[in-house]
Amino acid sequence: MSLAALNGRDLLSLADLSEAELLGLLDLAANLKTGEVQPQCRQVLGLLFSKASTRTRVSFSVAMYQLGGQVLDLNASVTQVGRGEPLMDTARVLDRYLDIVAIRTFAQAELETFAHYAKIPVINALTDLEHPCQILADLQTIQESFGQLSGLTVSYFGDGNNVAHSLMIGCALAGIHVRIATPADYQPLPEIIEQTRRIAGDRSQVIITDDPKAAAEGSHVLYTDVWASMGQEDLAESRIPIFQPYQINANLLSLADSEAIVLHCLPAHRGEEITEDVMEGSQSRIWDEAENRLHAQKALLVSTLGVLES
Ligand code: CP
Ligand code: NVA
Repeated sequence: MSLAALNGRDLLSLADLSEAELLGLLDLAANLKTGEVQPQCRQVLGLLFSKASTRTRVSFSVAMYQLGGQVLDLNASVTQVGRGEPLMDTARVLDRYLDIVAIRTFAQAELETFAHYAKIPVINALTDLEHPCQILADLQTIQESFGQLSGLTVSYFGDGNNVAHSLMIGCALAGIHVRIATPADYQPLPEIIEQTRRIAGDRSQVIITDDPKAAAEGSHVLYTDVWASMGQEDLAESRIPIFQPYQINANLLSLADSEAIVLHCLPAHRGEEITEDVMEGSQSRIWDEAENRLHAQKALLVSTLGVLES
């Protein structure tokens, strides 16, 4: 019932979802994964990507093909977008051809402009501000591992970036305690911290700290991402010594709950934000997490396209 309300909606931020919608999507993703439900559609998804992508591009494409739909891979360099055609014009034109569009770009404002001018559902496939689709898969993976979400503790280590932002919001929506451990100058944006605290209310704790050990203590999920995101490549080298204390390694993992799992959105830099032994170790759920991109996004596609019952 709550998923019917997603028909025609955009997903620009994870905060666009209510708790019931988020949990409904995760249930549907689990049922799609087992094959318990097999919805079909004939719609066309456009992928308008201005940054590189392996997982998001392929998982969205395969999800759409498995549903019986079609995909157009439209990156900036093969469209007039790359030659400066205004987004507000592109949006109104693509709106007439496509049924849904997933956009990967830099500024959240570009995504919002597109969504303002297009009536079809617009999905955030990563911006500098958020990566909501990633966190749908992460929460699905956490639910698979623990059989619950509410009451768990998730700890994130590294850069207070797009992934950290969506993770915070997603955890707050699901009643998960969240700890974000970053160097002092690399905390999440104050407005995202405030928004997360507002969503969490008195249901779950939101801790922002520069102490990685305190953040790991007794936690159920240790999560990390690259120290320099796409567009920050020239900062990568200089950031290594700043972020080194936030590496997920065996020492940090030993402080967590004995059943703790390790997540990474990928791509990973082994030896930087995560060590090889932890990434390949028995507590890593990184490959299930990557697989769940397919199921979680399929749930999102059928819900926003309104083809749940077909
Ligand atoms: N995690 C993620 O979004 O991966 P891609 O950049 O490969 O899509
Ligand atoms: N924070 C990373 C995530 C990649 C999936 C980036 O934006 O490059």
